[in-house]
Amino acid sequence: MTALNGKVIIVSGASSGIGNAAAHLFAKSGANVIATARRQSQLERLCLDSREYRGSIVAVPGEITDPSLHESLVRAAVREFGRLDGAFNNAGTLGSAAAIEETSVESWHETIDTNLTSALLAAKTQIPQMKTDGGGSIVFTGTFVGHTAAFPGMSAYAASKAGLIGLAKVLAVECAQSRIRVNVIAAGGVDTAMGRKSAPSPDARSQVESLHALKRIAKPGEIAASARFLLSDDASFITGSTMMVEGGVSINRT
Ligand SMILES: NC(=O)c1ccc[n+]([C@@H]2O[C@H](COP(=O)([O-])OP(=O)(O)OC[C@H]3O[C@@H](n4cnc5c(N)ncnc54)[C@H](OP(=O)(O)O)[C@@H]3O)[C@@H](O)[C@H]2O)c1
Repeated sequence: MTALNGKVIIVSGASSGIGNAAAHLFAKSGANVIATARRQSQLERLCLDSREYRGSIVAVPGEITDPSLHESLVRAAVREFGRLDGAFNNAGTLGSAAAIEETSVESWHETIDTNLTSALLAAKTQIPQMKTDGGGSIVFTGTFVGHTAAFPGMSAYAASKAGLIGLAKVLAVECAQSRIRVNVIAAGGVDTAMGRKSAPSPDARSQVESLHALKRIAKPGEIAASARFLLSDDASFITGSTMMVEGGVSINRT
């Protein structure tokens, strides 16, 4: 098991899906986790579960587009555990899927703010603390959508997630001398609330599964395991990369 022993890691989107699986996995792997999302009751459940784990979980609920949330998260890391070593900036929304003529500027901004501007706010707050602490690792949750494939109606989602790839590359070179690594996970389909929203019927789900070379979508824990690797010292020579964790959906023609 890849160790995160004693590392202090922020996890966003921790109330469900990939972020929830990641918070469990990281704390089981010895990390101390600052977990965030809007739904407080789910975060409280997570904190209760972590009493059994090697690491602890502290909840800081909030809205990911709010700059003050990111300050509170870093403050909580330092107050509770003395430092910040990593961040899994994973919260995101599908937004409302619509053809370009029906895509309102408001819904465009909502998706870009939640998926991309939140990443900027997170990095702006996390990086100075990581510099003080001598280094760190930042991982953003991206997708193959807008990177290796496209679907109609997903312009804002694809643009926001493709933006993460460019952001991570620039931060990787900007912060390399400070021993901070920055990477993106390009996830394939994942069995979460968001995954179920994008393929609501059994037929739609099997169609999505069939797009993947592995003929299935991921369990949230499979994406969390890749994030754990990128956050760990085992990934010490990986920065500015987009790790494809997508079951072969980008290469599949079968
Ligand atoms: N599922 C897939 O097929 C798939 C594929 C590729 C990439 N991804 C990416 O994976 C990430 C996690 O999604 P998931 O699949 O695990 O879906 P999910 O279960 O719906 O989780 C989304 C998480 O983001 C949080 N969130 C959303 N909007 C927020 C906001 N405005 N402020 C604070 N937190 C917010 C939600 O928490 P609250 O609602 O409690 O705030 C929730 O914890 C997303 O970035 C998504 O784009 C998913």
